[in-house]
Amino acid sequence: MKKIGNYNRILVTSALTYANGHTHLGHIAGSILPADMYVRYLRLAGYDVIYICGSDEYGTAIEMSAIKEGITPETIIDKYHFANKKAYEDLGMSFDIYSRTSTEYHRKASQDFFLNLYNKGLLSQRTEKQLYSEKEGRFLADRFVIGTCPICGFEEATGDECENCGSSLSPLELKKPRSKITGDTPVVKESTHYYFPLASYQDKLKEWIESKTDWKPNVVNYCKGWFKTGLKDRAITRDLDWGIPVPVEGNDGKVIYVWFEAPIGYISNTIELFEGRGTPDKWKDYWQKEDTKLVHFLGKDNIIFHAIFFPAMLMAHGDYVLADNVPANEFMNLEGSKQSKSKGHAIYVKDVLTKFNPDSIRYAIASNMPENKDTDFYFEDLQAKNNNELGAILGNFVNRTFVFCEKYFEGKVPESGKFEEIDSNITGSLISYTQRIASYYENYKFKDALSETMNLVRDANKYFNDTEPWKAVKESKERCGTIINICLQLCHTFAILFNPVLPFTSEKILKMIGTGKENFSWDRASELCLKSGHVLNKPEILFTKIEDSEIEF
Ligand code: MF3
Ligand code: ZN
Repeated sequence: MKKIGNYNRILVTSALTYANGHTHLGHIAGSILPADMYVRYLRLAGYDVIYICGSDEYGTAIEMSAIKEGITPETIIDKYHFANKKAYEDLGMSFDIYSRTSTEYHRKASQDFFLNLYNKGLLSQRTEKQLYSEKEGRFLADRFVIGTCPICGFEEATGDECENCGSSLSPLELKKPRSKITGDTPVVKESTHYYFPLASYQDKLKEWIESKTDWKPNVVNYCKGWFKTGLKDRAITRDLDWGIPVPVEGNDGKVIYVWFEAPIGYISNTIELFEGRGTPDKWKDYWQKEDTKLVHFLGKDNIIFHAIFFPAMLMAHGDYVLADNVPANEFMNLEGSKQSKSKGHAIYVKDVLTKFNPDSIRYAIASNMPENKDTDFYFEDLQAKNNNELGAILGNFVNRTFVFCEKYFEGKVPESGKFEEIDSNITGSLISYTQRIASYYENYKFKDALSETMNLVRDANKYFNDTEPWKAVKESKERCGTIINICLQLCHTFAILFNPVLPFTSEKILKMIGTGKENFSWDRASELCLKSGHVLNKPEILFTKIEDSEIEF
């Protein structure tokens, strides 16, 4: 297998999706799509890569949704796990596994991890005051308490933050606290929890992050901010019903904190993946060998957990590799978009998929990806990208080439004669294009990768216009054959280069060409792979125009 830097294999993760709601375009833009483009590129380029994702199924968010909807947490997670798995599949996400944290694999991996730290004497026990509802017979976690904000007086603040003034709060600070579910006034009661010694990892974490020269500035700056405030030890157990039981005796009713076990989901899903492939020990190569490049994709709200908390856990355990990079994105907001408001703040993947081509959705998001700053999603933008770029540039080039070939060369790849300068220029540019695009992918510059790929298609259209095959066919059939041969070669190149962002279109173009996957690799994208005389399949329309009426909701 090919090496990437000093690494022999790449392990890519996307933030696990909470299974208490439908996945929306924010998830796609933040972590799922950039990771998918990255791994699709790496696979084509011949690297050994696996892509791990799944559902995040414990914690208060899930328990709260269950209580609100009056159903069990199991019903909630089943509903959303399978719905989200399907939505991602329909949008062309190429996970090696999309599993979930409610599996037996995950319970065991999380408890083993906890016990490993416990047995090393790293976890201290501390007793703290918490709110307890006598009526409900349980402790109330942050989000289960509402009350008056001590700072601004807002009466509906929750136990973790005040929505009105933005202050972060703890339940005990709230005035007139009450249970969100029953309205009951809680009492203060003591509870004992295990703490992870995060503070003592500050120096090691700081040194580690400072050694990284290629991390995105936004990620490094967030981390520096936390180091400046000073890291604090964190409780890693909770008094909750829904979660993974603390694996130490005398802890009935306590579960492992969701942000401790959820990232272990990346590990347990990898274990499950290789168990399924019949090579149950192979997961260790990816997680425990120093020559693995571990890359976490996520949105900025998750940076602290992936750049600080989880690495500290891995350091404490000692058997695992640490992330090579944590290329977090900012947010893709919907504020600017009228349509989103009527739908209540999120555009769900399942809904957009009923109206638009998955590749058009991927393309619109990728070209507006919040790599360095927040962006806004607009349906007008999706329409414009679909019509003016995908349809008018890519679709048009492929279509005119195939139609021309069918009309004048019986749908067979024509012979190529002697190259003129204009021919050598475009075919000769392929090497530098593919190298440049590859380097953008390897450096997490997905927008640049995409626009450079589209620039090549612009060049191809210019080539078609400048060589005027419709004239050439009357003057010299041989010359015309050379032009069309080159245009068909370019279609094959596009099938490869667009695969990371437009996987369905890539397949379609390849099917139209009819050569299968024999030359379907990044290295071959700069070569002229099609043999003259090869019989093409019938052309298909790649993108249909999106009308104004289709983006009105
Ligand atoms: N479910 C979390 C979120 O959507 C992300 C969990 S990432 C993991 O914010 F690492 F904890 F798995
Ligand atoms: Zn407030």
